[in-house]
Amino acid sequence: MSQWKISNFEEYQKAYMASLENPDQFWGNIAESFQWKKKWNTVKSGGFQNLDFKWFDGSELNITENCLDRHLSSQPDKLALLFEPNDPHGEVIKYTYRELHEAVCKTANMIKGLGIKKGDRVCLYMSMVPELLISVLACARIGAIHSVVFGGFSAQSLAGRIQDSDCKLLITNDGGYRGDKIIPLKEISDEALKNCPSIENVIVHSRTKSEVKMQSGRDHWWHDLYKNSSADCPAETMKAEDPLFILYTSGSTGKPKGVLHTTAGYMVWAAYTFQNVFQLNDEKDLYWCTADIGWITGHTYITYGPLLSGVTTVMFEGVPTYPDAGRFWNIVDKHQITHFYTAPTAIRALMACDQSLVEKANLSSLKVLGTVGEPINVEAWEWYNEHVGKKKCPIVDTWWQTETGGIMISPLANITKTKPCFATLPIPGVSLELVDADGKVIEGNRVEGNLCVSQSWPGQARTVWGDHERFKQTYFGTYPNKYFTGDGCRRDEDGYYRITGRVDDVINVSGHRIGTAEVEDAIDLLENVIETAVVGYPHDIKGQGIYAYIIMKDAEVNVDSFIKTVREQVTKVIGPIAKPDKIQIVSGLPKTRSGKIMRRILRKVAEGDSKNLGDTSTLLDPSVVTEIVNGAK
Ligand code: WTA
Repeated sequence: MSQWKISNFEEYQKAYMASLENPDQFWGNIAESFQWKKKWNTVKSGGFQNLDFKWFDGSELNITENCLDRHLSSQPDKLALLFEPNDPHGEVIKYTYRELHEAVCKTANMIKGLGIKKGDRVCLYMSMVPELLISVLACARIGAIHSVVFGGFSAQSLAGRIQDSDCKLLITNDGGYRGDKIIPLKEISDEALKNCPSIENVIVHSRTKSEVKMQSGRDHWWHDLYKNSSADCPAETMKAEDPLFILYTSGSTGKPKGVLHTTAGYMVWAAYTFQNVFQLNDEKDLYWCTADIGWITGHTYITYGPLLSGVTTVMFEGVPTYPDAGRFWNIVDKHQITHFYTAPTAIRALMACDQSLVEKANLSSLKVLGTVGEPINVEAWEWYNEHVGKKKCPIVDTWWQTETGGIMISPLANITKTKPCFATLPIPGVSLELVDADGKVIEGNRVEGNLCVSQSWPGQARTVWGDHERFKQTYFGTYPNKYFTGDGCRRDEDGYYRITGRVDDVINVSGHRIGTAEVEDAIDLLENVIETAVVGYPHDIKGQGIYAYIIMKDAEVNVDSFIKTVREQVTKVIGPIAKPDKIQIVSGLPKTRSGKIMRRILRKVAEGDSKNLGDTSTLLDPSVVTEIVNGAK
């Protein structure tokens, strides 16, 4: 492991100071331990003023040489990837670093053979199979920009993402296993591709052996191309700021944004945060992150972070509740997992299931637990600590975002004192500020405000694909010269940070970001809808649920069947994850005289807190509030 790995709290404090006082020296030292084709001219340049920040400018590299080739001389036979299938009796698939290197090179040649070059966009719409991780790295190998779309999104969402970044190639599966279901990925892709003229070729990896239609000239079986592909694929030379990937994420307005990450800074950030937060210190340690590669967590902490660090990454195809709610714990025991990283929503779901399933598991291999994606509540934190970690495993509550590339606030395992529900302290290189609504920085402790970052860090997103202005507005438009996260945050008496949740119109459902506007737009497309307002409300398992208030055009229509139509519509336009949990038909929405919907009131009603609606006197028609409150009951 690297010389820059922090091993005690004093070292953390020193590193933190050094990272902000002299970022060039600090990150320059760290970068020395990677493999470069050419070293940088400057470590950090530019800044938030002109949004021209760059890291390791002038350097040349390929991230896959750092993930794979670099380990070939030192540990070719070490396991790089361990795949646990959906079916507990299915085949566990293992790749050593040598084997993974070969698979990535063959796949890279296979996509190169279809005319994909540096800078081209490749969409990956796949289930959690090894070939997804391999495809990600294969793109990076030849400098193609990968855009992974989560396999739970609908045909329309997939099409929108392919169109936005003009992908030339789509890689998918025939079907994907998810518990007792098969997701018809190829069929959904076919539907999407009706409106995606930029796609020239489709590679279909066969997983479920489901029957699929293959369009001749466009569709190719993975196994046909793969078997004739050469294992010799020199890594493309990439400049530090060449794009590595696009990942779409929802914001408070408009359609999802293609968040763009570049090469060198992201690489250094992924490895640095992975090693320091999780602290895999023993050769035998085995790390498992349960996320899907369709989300940023799967990019940084299943794929890049672990492989850059030369450890074994475990990848799971299935879901936590199949064949029963003991699956996670069985996998931990089966493979003797030491480091386990999951989402609060999974913890809450499993907590609510048969407790004997966790009790009868052994779990003694575990050393470190992690959470990510949403605020964890005290009950879930305590349960995780007691029943999974047996009170001997630190919990690293890691706060970060798609846009931050990697972890920003988190305990370092066994180094930082943990506190239930606190992400605790910033990673070196992260300068946090809490600001009030006017943008004034809030000093001192025992305070709460909007969470901002005041200096560039290596892993940050560089732009929104095709819309730099939107990037500027979304992240730097609220407070000048500060990156605004969209999250609220408290700093306690010890200077520890606790994230309180989104302060914008983004709902965090089971750790998935969903923009209220996106759901509203989907529902508003229905014939019988005049207007919709969507808000989040506290949900026991999902963290937040989706509550939709809808004004119908024809109130005579049967309400039950209408509600069913609304749910189907959202599933069709976005995907099942965005389906409203509650739908209330209303005759009007609370609006200000200027026509703005007062979401504050709708949120309160959705929370069941209709006694504290605050001032409603500025409303155009205060009587709708009474109706909504009564209707909610
Ligand atoms: C939320 C996921 C509290 C937060 C890596 C953030 C969290 C959004 C935590 C980003 C945490 C993530 N505690 N909230 N430990 N981690 N969040 O882009 O609201 O899918 O802004 O990235 O999730 O979600 P994203």
